[in-house]
Amino acid sequence: MKKTDNQVLVIFGASGDLTERKLIPAVFNLYCGGFLPECYAVIGVSRSEYSDEDYRDKVVFNNEHLINKASATPETLKGFADLVYYQSVDTKNIEAYGKLKSRLDLLDEQNATCNNHIFYLATPPSLYETIAQGLGDVGLNSETTGWSRLIVEKPFGYNLNSAKKLNKELLKHFSEDQIYRIDHYLGKETVQNMFVTRFANSIFEPLWNRNYIHRIEVTAAEHVGVEKRGGYYDSSGALRDMIQNHLFQLVALIAMEPPVRSDAESIRNEKLKVFQSLRPYSDEDIKENVIRGQYMNSTVRGEAVPGYREEEDVSEQSKTETYVAMKFFIDNWRWAGVPFYIRTGKRMPTRVTEVVIHFKPNHHHLFVNDSKLANQQNVLVLRIQPNEGILLKFDMKIPGAGFKTEQVNMDFHYDELTNVYVPDAYERLILDCMQGDTTLYARGDSTEAAWEFIDPILKAWEQQEDIPVFGYPAGTWGPEHADKLIEGDNMNWRYPCSNLTDDGNYCEL
Ligand code: NDP
Ligand code: BG6
Repeated sequence: MKKTDNQVLVIFGASGDLTERKLIPAVFNLYCGGFLPECYAVIGVSRSEYSDEDYRDKVVFNNEHLINKASATPETLKGFADLVYYQSVDTKNIEAYGKLKSRLDLLDEQNATCNNHIFYLATPPSLYETIAQGLGDVGLNSETTGWSRLIVEKPFGYNLNSAKKLNKELLKHFSEDQIYRIDHYLGKETVQNMFVTRFANSIFEPLWNRNYIHRIEVTAAEHVGVEKRGGYYDSSGALRDMIQNHLFQLVALIAMEPPVRSDAESIRNEKLKVFQSLRPYSDEDIKENVIRGQYMNSTVRGEAVPGYREEEDVSEQSKTETYVAMKFFIDNWRWAGVPFYIRTGKRMPTRVTEVVIHFKPNHHHLFVNDSKLANQQNVLVLRIQPNEGILLKFDMKIPGAGFKTEQVNMDFHYDELTNVYVPDAYERLILDCMQGDTTLYARGDSTEAAWEFIDPILKAWEQQEDIPVFGYPAGTWGPEHADKLIEGDNMNWRYPCSNLTDDGNYCEL
């Protein structure tokens, strides 16, 4: 097991939604699991005024995302709350950093936390550069007496230029190996398992290329709408919110070459090459191969659901996309000619994220018979969430005369590993940062390379009025136009259910 130094976690954006819903509960889980070092403290930083006690009440004792956990006994809550502190500052004010430094010096001394600090940026992104500079100005970026690490929340930039600028500004104060760009999809166990499935098994890798794979599909569907984040989402949209980061990280893990070693730099080098090999779109390609949609009001399972434009903090004329489906190619030796289809959307019929590998059919159809199911493609489904697992579809003989075949399922479900505790994504990623492991964090160059591919789409959507935003009723699989992306007779997206093995006609949502 890797060593975890004594340290302090400083959360900027301490009174915000992410801190309460994800960050503090993740650190609490680490505490309950015995993963925190002997000397540890969390200090929340934002403008709101709280005493340490008030802040503990807010994020620990009254935090519904934490107190409902089975591990939340009065003793664990109290023990954890004692590690939590608060400092009110306006991070736009340059004097704030002196105040923060004095508080940290005191905490380090009282708690023996050895001047090791993680600074977690969970504020509006417009403050990221200011905070990095402020920390640099008072020497909190320095690693002379302890280490200093910076976790940067998404979105990492708004387009290619802003991502480059953000990288440049952060790198003025922190070196690349001090910067941890978080993408919570990489913290998911099932996402990490894609790497293991490919490279720990001898049966998949020989088939994992253009010779045997017909097409690859990635779906990240959400049942919920924009909820309370309309203000943020309306200036972001699905392409920035999900595709540029989460879905591209999945694509990189599916498409990358085997790294030389399983260390951070070897893995991140290979992922970068995938982004660099994405075939750039022309304006014409964008019209044909990228479909955007927006959900409209509807009745879902008997309940009236508002359309996107009726959501709180969303403009009534908004053209922001809540759905994107796209087809693209990776121009390299392994993937030449293999189409990748990816899609994401809010207000879909169910919540599901999965990768579907469609293998080419047999070259010679031996069992041609009247069964429509004969000679279907083999399909491997890597289910990220929910009902996490792996499903392989292959043909079997239907018992009886002749050689009629039928496609059957072979499935593995993660919950069969019942004795294994599966950490939440944030929990895993924060622990990695505590131990100085950048493997599951995005590197600056690959973030820029991903933006480089996305940028022309954003520009085309902004500048070309004739590119439609298709409406789709909430609770459906998005605009029908997305079906046309997939070439070939009888070829379509897999329409998954919440249950890994059910698809096709009967399906439990
Ligand atoms: P919120 O608006 O809920 O929180 C923003 C936080 O920043 C508040 O604590 C606010 O506190 C603080 N803040 C704002 N201005 C200042 C300032 N000048 N000085 C000090 N603190 C300031 O946002 P979220 O928690 O939703 O999101 C935070 C970041 O995390 C964003 O970048 C977002 O994109 C990202 N993110 C959020 C997710 C989520 O589910 N919420 C998911 C993934 C990423 P105060 O007003 O008290 O100063
Ligand atoms: C976040 C997006 O990064 O990921 C949200 O900002 C989205 O809009 C969320 O809902 C999806 O994450 P998960 O883990 O629920 O698939």
